[in-house]
Amino acid sequence: MNSIRIIDLPQVLDKRGNLSFFENCDQIPFEIKRTYWIYDVPGGETRGSHAFKEQQEFIVALSGSFDICIHDGNKECRYAMNRSYYGLYIPRMMWRKIDNFSTNSLALIVSDRQFDDTDYIRDFEEFLKIKLK
Ligand code: TYD
Repeated sequence: MNSIRIIDLPQVLDKRGNLSFFENCDQIPFEIKRTYWIYDVPGGETRGSHAFKEQQEFIVALSGSFDICIHDGNKECRYAMNRSYYGLYIPRMMWRKIDNFSTNSLALIVSDRQFDDTDYIRDFEEFLKIKLK
């Protein structure tokens, strides 16, 4: 099932501190090719505002909180990310922006592809044209 969804991650609860994890093709539905993270976001800033032609992603709020706003071509949906034991799986061809970052928030993103600038769609009208054709 490759639809957008929140994926709950395992939680190993421990008096010494809790632990969560995900592994290739297990908790998440793809093989990880790249990991990056977004941090030190100034208050009020927005990241993203693009879609990927092929890339799939999984995003976890490792620290703090932020919102991921997804437009699938028909409607917009906002996901509140504020715990490190779940993440949002985003399939290809979804318009996404990330905003409402709290102070010291840390967004961890894993992707099924190496960085490729030609995979980006940065124009919303172009995204709608491709998505709805
Ligand atoms: P971008 O994906 O547009 O950031 P965001 O979606 O978070 O706003 O990337 C910003 C810049 O960083 C862009 O010039 C490309 C570069 N970049 C890399 O070099 N490698 C990467 O893995 C990523 C994600 C971005």
